Amino acid sequence: MKKVVFSVLITALLTGAVGEAAVYKGQREFHKQCKACHDDGQDIAFTYKRRTWKKMMKDNGAGLAELHLNSEKAKKSWKYFKSKKYQKNSKHLKDFMVEYAKDSGNVPACN
Ligand code: HEC
Repeated sequence: MKKVVFSVLITALLTGAVGEAAVYKGQREFHKQCKACHDDGQDIAFTYKRRTWKKMMKDNGAGLAELHLNSEKAKKSWKYFKSKKYQKNSKHLKDFMVEYAKDSGNVPACN
């Protein structure tokens, strides 16, 4: 009986996770992958306007990856930017960046 309750709980959790806004997923990805070098996701999002972000994140984030792959200082991020994981998550990152871009007028809630 316990097992059944447990699996229902897991299912509920998973469905909940799928229903999350992509903006939130992008923020989470930022916290995991970018925060080591860029303190604040809001500051980074604020670097560009929405249009520029859309361009940067086109083709699975090719522009942003290139920017880092061209910088010796960003060497530690190369593995991530070359990974499938980045390609997969780049659309969430884009949603996050566009949401808080310079001309978006949005400020993320403190967390
Ligand atoms: C290993 C450290 C490192 C990681 C991890 C990293 N970056 Fe960077 N990033 C850099 C460096 C260094 C530069 C400056 C590149 C240059 O101009 O030489 C940079 C530049 C940028 C810029 C250009 C804006 C500016 O101020 O020049 C943006 C936007 C950016 N990074 C976003 C991100 C995002 C989004 C992630 C996560 C997906 C990320 N970075 C992960 C090191 C990192």
